[in-house]
Amino acid sequence: MHQTAQKRLFSAIQPSGAITIGNYIGAIQNWAALQQQNDCIFAIADLHAITVQQVPEILRKNSRDLVALLLACGVDCKNSILFLQSQLSYHIELMWLLSSMCYIGELSRMTQFKDKSAKKEENCNAGLMTYPVLMAADILLYQTEIVPVGADQKQHLELARNLALRFNNRYSQTFTLPEPYITSNGQAKIFSLQEPTKKMSKSDVNSLSYITLLDKKEEIIKKCKRAVTDSDNQIYFDCQNKAGISNLLTIYSAFTGKSIAEAEMQFKGVGYANFKETVGEAVAKYLAPIQERYRELVADKRYIDTVLRDGRERAGDIAYKTLRKVYKKIGFYRGE
Ligand code: AMP
Ligand code: TRP
Repeated sequence: MHQTAQKRLFSAIQPSGAITIGNYIGAIQNWAALQQQNDCIFAIADLHAITVQQVPEILRKNSRDLVALLLACGVDCKNSILFLQSQLSYHIELMWLLSSMCYIGELSRMTQFKDKSAKKEENCNAGLMTYPVLMAADILLYQTEIVPVGADQKQHLELARNLALRFNNRYSQTFTLPEPYITSNGQAKIFSLQEPTKKMSKSDVNSLSYITLLDKKEEIIKKCKRAVTDSDNQIYFDCQNKAGISNLLTIYSAFTGKSIAEAEMQFKGVGYANFKETVGEAVAKYLAPIQERYRELVADKRYIDTVLRDGRERAGDIAYKTLRKVYKKIGFYRGE
């Protein structure tokens, strides 16, 4: 059978604590699926995480635990590369080189920067602003063709493309231009269970509003049962008028593989209480084997370290080749 050429794919996730089913459906679930047909590199973006002040011990633990969780979710570290961003200083080097070609206006216009800086008037660190340049370095070091991300990261990807183009035009063809890959799952944004017009987020003060991948079965069912819905007692998809019910249908669909239409059929005439419980059961059932595998992996520190060492080596070989070219093109003296 004819096989299409594998594409180089890069993505990353920050180790900022509990991972929600929003992160899973929007990002991690796709990673596991995409690695079947692509040449994948996945990073834990711990350098990005420090734009928010971190407690050192917790950052270390979150980074290691996230490796175990990604492996438990099906990231295959034999075929794909999985590594920790801070273990390869090439990322920071390329970031500096790119930042000398990036305009301040480009960075200050980024929606995420505007939102975050508005919230942090007093402690608006420079990293919040230059964050997308580091992200561009992550992507461009690997000659990445596709980058699966949530819709919120699309603007950052645009910058990576612009910087690549600018460099290629100024010197000569060096970087591959990356394309965003926003899957249908990624578009299916998962909303808060308590305020279903707001994105589900692990930083929400109300823990009833999100489900993490490590929540216990009873917690998952309780959170689904308490999910805010409406009072017309009909189950069908309509984000505008039935945000809560639609969100639960999206979640159900993502964890059962059934389409929204199939789910609507299944729940025709079913009461809300029953529906919510069925959704909770489906989520818990799907997550149970992931949780079990996670517990085994997270206890095996040596294995996690081996995975990271191997990932660092494989990623480093690719990144070094790109960086060497870049240094040469810019005109840094390297000796005869
Ligand atoms: P964050 O937790 O914001 O660092 O996001 C990590 C990844 O998960 C990104 O690709 C996001 O687009 C995705 N993501 C985060 N929250 C959600 C959500 N509620 N629904 C869908 N995708 C999400
Ligand atoms: N900024 C991304 C997020 O918060 C994480 C990230 C860092 C990333 N580097 C990347 C995503 C490179 C894709 C490609 O979700």
